[in-house]
Amino acid sequence: MASPRSIVVLTGAGISAESGLATFRGPDGLWEGHHVEQVCTPQALARDPATVHRFYDARRAALSQVEPNAAHRALARLDAEWPGDLVIVTQNVDDLHERAGARRLIHMHGELLSALCASCGAREPWAGQLDPGMPCPACDAPALRPDIVFFGEMPYAMDRIEGAIAAADLFVSIGTSGAVYPAAGFVQTARYAGGRTLELNLEPSAGSALFDESRLGPASLLVPAWVEETLAVAGPNPAAAR
Ligand code: APR
Repeated sequence: MASPRSIVVLTGAGISAESGLATFRGPDGLWEGHHVEQVCTPQALARDPATVHRFYDARRAALSQVEPNAAHRALARLDAEWPGDLVIVTQNVDDLHERAGARRLIHMHGELLSALCASCGAREPWAGQLDPGMPCPACDAPALRPDIVFFGEMPYAMDRIEGAIAAADLFVSIGTSGAVYPAAGFVQTARYAGGRTLELNLEPSAGSALFDESRLGPASLLVPAWVEETLAVAGPNPAAAR
C-alpha cells in the first residue's frame, strides 16, 4: 500500500502498563481491587462520593511516580515528524502521552489532571486532591467531580473522532482489550470507510479478527518499530501529494 496520508491511533491502558500503571482487566488490573460499579459510574458518585474521589485521587497522585515509556515517546515522534493528518485518541486518563510530547491528542475518557463541574460543565486543570463538594472556580457551585467519563456517560469529542476515522487511510489500535464501546467499535468504522487497520497488543484483543494485521508483543517494542517503519515510507510530504 502507498504510504497512508491520514492516520488515527487509538491507545488503551496497555500502552501505559510498562510505565507501571495498572491496566483494568489484567490479572493485577485496577478493577480487580474495585468493582467498576463502585467507582466508575454516576450512581457510584452519587451514592458514595468519598470512595469515588479517593479512587481517582490515588490514581492522580500516582502519576508523579511514573514516566512515559518508549511507546509514548515513539508516538510523540510520529506526531512531530508525520507530515500528513494524525490524531492520537486515547482512552487513558493519565498524562503520559502529553509528557512524552504528543500534541495531536484527544482524551476521550477524560483526564486525571482535570476536574469537571457537575453544575456548569466547566473543566479545570487539577493536580491535587479533589474532595467531594469543592467549589467550582467558574460558578462557585460545590459540584466539582473527577473529569472522568463514567460508564453510561458520553465520551468526549466523538464527532471529531468519528470524522477522523472516516477520513483515515490507517487506523492503529495499541494496548486496548476492545472490551468497551464506543472505542471497541472504531475498527469497524475504519474498515467501513476503507481504511487499513493494524493492532499492536500484548495479546489478541476482543476485536483482533477485525484487523487487517495484528502484531503481538509489548508496546515498548512494537510501537517504536512501527513508527520507524511508517516514517521511513512517509517520503515527501504526502499531504502535498493530494
Ligand atoms: N503492551 C501492549 N499491550 C498491553 C501491554 C503491553 N505492555 N500490557 C497489557 N496490554 C494489553 C492487554 O493485553 C489488554 O488487551 O492492553 C489491554 C488492556 O486492556 P484493558 O485493561 O481492558 O484496558 P483498556 O482496553 O484501555 O480499557 C478500556 O475500559 O474500564 C474502562 O475506561 C476504562 O478506558 C478504559 C476502558
